[in-house]
Amino acid sequence: MKYDIAVLPGDGVGQEVMAEGLKVLEVVGRRFGHEFAYKKGIVGGGAIDKFGTALPDDVIPMCKSCDALLFGAVGGPKWDIPTAKVRPEQAILGLRKGLGVYANLRPVNVYPMLENATPLKPEIVRGVDILVLRELTGGIYFGTPQKTWTSARGRQSVDTLRYSEKEIERIVRTGFELARSRRNKLTSVDKANVIETSRLWRQITNELAPEYPEVKLEHVLVDTAAMRLIRDPGSFDVMVMENMFGDILTDEASVLGGSMGMMASASLGGATSAFNAHRKVRRMGMYEPIHGTAPDIAGQNKANPIGMIRSVAMMLYYSLGLQKEAATIEKAVLNVLESGARTGDIAQPGDRVLGCREMGDTIAEAVGKR
Ligand code: IPM
Ligand code: MG
Repeated sequence: MKYDIAVLPGDGVGQEVMAEGLKVLEVVGRRFGHEFAYKKGIVGGGAIDKFGTALPDDVIPMCKSCDALLFGAVGGPKWDIPTAKVRPEQAILGLRKGLGVYANLRPVNVYPMLENATPLKPEIVRGVDILVLRELTGGIYFGTPQKTWTSARGRQSVDTLRYSEKEIERIVRTGFELARSRRNKLTSVDKANVIETSRLWRQITNELAPEYPEVKLEHVLVDTAAMRLIRDPGSFDVMVMENMFGDILTDEASVLGGSMGMMASASLGGATSAFNAHRKVRRMGMYEPIHGTAPDIAGQNKANPIGMIRSVAMMLYYSLGLQKEAATIEKAVLNVLESGARTGDIAQPGDRVLGCREMGDTIAEAVGKR
């Protein structure tokens, strides 16, 4: 089978980890008899330098013509100017909105051999397996007005937090469906004691609950959720939340797994029913590691490519319906970690530290082995 994959490496370590993700994908293709054709584009800071915009007009149509999109990371100190009209992040936000990928799946799991790579006690993180579901195309990230102006009392700014019933319903439904395919527990995170959109969120969630009687639903305020994530992370299965809460809590949750460099994500659009994890479906999705461009280590072959490589696995699983191939990548990552291979971010004193390319080579080799 032949698949068209849009490839947007972006800036900084985005370039380096993407090379390793594609290396692994090529091996999957050879082993399982698939052909992947790549359509590459420039977005983020690189596109600002070259075209004066973070997201050139032809990128979204190009992505829409493909089966899936692999995305690296965008941004860097060079473009980090608070007053700038063009910002690298506009690429990522424009793609999410333009492709309608409202459901962002961020799995947080702890590999047994990395229990000591976190600053938390091993017994706290042991066996943690959480799926954070973040609403990705609404809320304060996209609400208008969003502006700064000068009044008689000085400068003022406004951001707008708005959610419609439809937007809430589709993401919460996705949460119920995903919980049903896992351990039947759904935690809905909100701030219903203060924020109006959260009260609507909670109300709609309660209205949907009777349709999923097998799922145990709980509502947790976002501040409490932040605390419970490091005190008792094992008590969570699927967590569903609005855009900004999801941004903040997934950075926190990534610490459980040892490093942000390990974390993959899938951003999906379309009908909620197709999310049922074991159904064989093909759907457009955007796949990216949750880490950024890491300017401090960019260009030094030090980045951890595992988040990107696992994002490739999520692409195979959710967009291309290639479950066996996805599992092969996941197993290769596990085996390579078991063999003791580490990148700097997850290494303990005395560990063998591999560069980004060498980690990619090692995983690719493990994927190729029958
Ligand atoms: C993320 C990132 C993005 C976000 C930034 C780069 C716009 O932090 O994917 O979590 O805030 O969504
Ligand atoms: Mg973030």
